[in-house]
Amino acid sequence: MFSHRRAFYLLLFFLLPLAACRPWYAKRVNGWEENKPPLDETLRSATYLIGDAGKWEQGDLMQQTVQSQLHQTPDSATVVYLGDNIYEWGLTDTAVKDYAKTKYYLDAQLHATDGFNGPVVFIPGNHDWAASYKEAPGGLANLKRQEVAVAKYGSNYSFLPTNGCPGPTVKKLPNGWTLIVLDTQWWVQTGRPEGVGCKCPQPTEQAVLRALDSLLQIHKGQKTIVVGHHPVYDNGTHGGHFTLRDHIFPLTAFNKYLWIPLPLIGSGIIAGRMMIKHFTDQTHPGYKRLATGLKTMLKRYPNVIYAAGHEHNLQYHNRDGVHYIVTGSAAKASGVSQGHTAEYVDTHRGFTVVKEYANGQVWVEYLIQGKYPSEKRVSYRRLLYTIPSQAAAIRH
Ligand SMILES: [Fe+2]
Repeated sequence: MFSHRRAFYLLLFFLLPLAACRPWYAKRVNGWEENKPPLDETLRSATYLIGDAGKWEQGDLMQQTVQSQLHQTPDSATVVYLGDNIYEWGLTDTAVKDYAKTKYYLDAQLHATDGFNGPVVFIPGNHDWAASYKEAPGGLANLKRQEVAVAKYGSNYSFLPTNGCPGPTVKKLPNGWTLIVLDTQWWVQTGRPEGVGCKCPQPTEQAVLRALDSLLQIHKGQKTIVVGHHPVYDNGTHGGHFTLRDHIFPLTAFNKYLWIPLPLIGSGIIAGRMMIKHFTDQTHPGYKRLATGLKTMLKRYPNVIYAAGHEHNLQYHNRDGVHYIVTGSAAKASGVSQGHTAEYVDTHRGFTVVKEYANGQVWVEYLIQGKYPSEKRVSYRRLLYTIPSQAAAIRH
């Protein structure tokens, strides 16, 4: 006799994998596909936001897609790698047996930009700090090693902020854009440079927030992107949002084929994770201070774009007129919850491009990758805002 319970799990077994792969959109953006920048409009600049690419093999499909996109965009493009550039513990010392592998992962991202002359910026994530691997030699030394390797690759390459400092660091981009870089891992990192005697321009959390606030004030109304590895608004597990799949099929988090129903164990793992306030999650006090500080500050600066990785999925949130982009699925893909503050979420591998057109419109485009090189498509596209001065100039 087939029990109801078995039938329930069987249904979930077939339906959840299907549901998990589909992008989700808030009802208010139904028909978003029809919204496009005017066909004849000239692209003035493009900023590629690529998160958590640190497991690219040479020839990875996503690496190829980035390469081909860069060949199509104007010289006024920028590439930003949003941290977790090298799994598992950043760029190790040459004496460590994993050195070749860690260098290989970094090289895959560097090679993706070969022949491209615009700015290429790498920022740190928890893995670049070797944060979760106490047994591995690393930390600040691995971070600085990556900084040197990136800067050595070419005069248009930089790793920011430098020296393990928290930032904010300003980088002027082509065509009047400003990039403000934060090391958000610094907020939860043990052994971070801080306090009296520290060589960082902002040696405390309060100093970081104050400096960011004055930079945003200086650049108010201008084309500004703030980047940090950690999301502020987050529908993923780091943000404390778990899907039915996380509760019932917890092993799929480790291997996407392990659809074994373990409902009690799944919920137990989630409860434990919330309790320990892991440093990668928003329950951690340092992460909480960072997210609260940024939320409170950014809402005074509408149209600022804040882009992060960390979550291996794609998300867009609009809060108080601020554009919150999560784009951390360049190398891996994982679950994300629908709803909450999000307007769009997707579990595919992908990356994001912020595009400015000659008519002053600034758009965001989420590009996802299928199993074959030709299988790439725009998963979501949205007008972020129109630069008032450019729009007015065109009308006259
Ligand atoms: Fe991360």
